[in-house]
Amino acid sequence: MSSFKACIFDLDGVITDTAHYHYLAWQRLASSVGVVFDQADNDQLKGVGRMESLEYILAKSDRVFSPAEKAVLAHHKNEDYKNLIREISPANILPGIREGFDWLKAERWKIGLASASRNAPQVIRSLGIADVFDYTADAGAIPNGKPAPDIFLDVARAFGLKGDECIGVEDAAAGVAAIKAAGMTAIGIGDASLLKEADIILPQTDFLLENGLKMLAA
Ligand code: BG6
Ligand code: MG
Repeated sequence: MSSFKACIFDLDGVITDTAHYHYLAWQRLASSVGVVFDQADNDQLKGVGRMESLEYILAKSDRVFSPAEKAVLAHHKNEDYKNLIREISPANILPGIREGFDWLKAERWKIGLASASRNAPQVIRSLGIADVFDYTADAGAIPNGKPAPDIFLDVARAFGLKGDECIGVEDAAAGVAAIKAAGMTAIGIGDASLLKEADIILPQTDFLLENGLKMLAA
């Protein structure tokens, strides 16, 4: 028997493929200010908050942007992103995620959400899974973003659990770093070269239950 009592999920790129929509919206924003933004840049920004991501992109420009201009650009990116996710439905839940949730419920583990996205409540409603989570962190209320451990610790605190009783699931290097900094066990989903710090790395969510959760629980 393991001592794990909770599994805390990232959202974008783990539960659903919204990471791709963030990428498209950032790419359009970057191009509107004359900045080239590619997949490698995007990998740096996975898990990173909206304003920090904007700062990363604007740092590649020769221009200096005022706080007011930055606010407008962040708003545009978010409106673009919201348009892209308008059609999201339960069909957009990635393979293996539902099976993972069902197993966690049957094992009576808590299920938490630790997404840096302020759009997370809307996305989980559109996916029809808002009631799956025993606790959803409010990204706007967490002072330090990933790779700081704060958002994962906030969920553990809500469950009355210690870090070593929780597993975190992430597709971002910053997210895996946050899980490890919280003293938790990390399952990384995606490119192994970017997620080296994770305890288990899975290429896709299909393997979450058999090669991730069950392995750690054994
Ligand atoms: C994270 C994404 O989940 O949320 C990032 O990986 C995104 O790409 C961040 O920038 C903030 O999202 P939002 O929806 O609040 O702009
Ligand atoms: Mg993610």
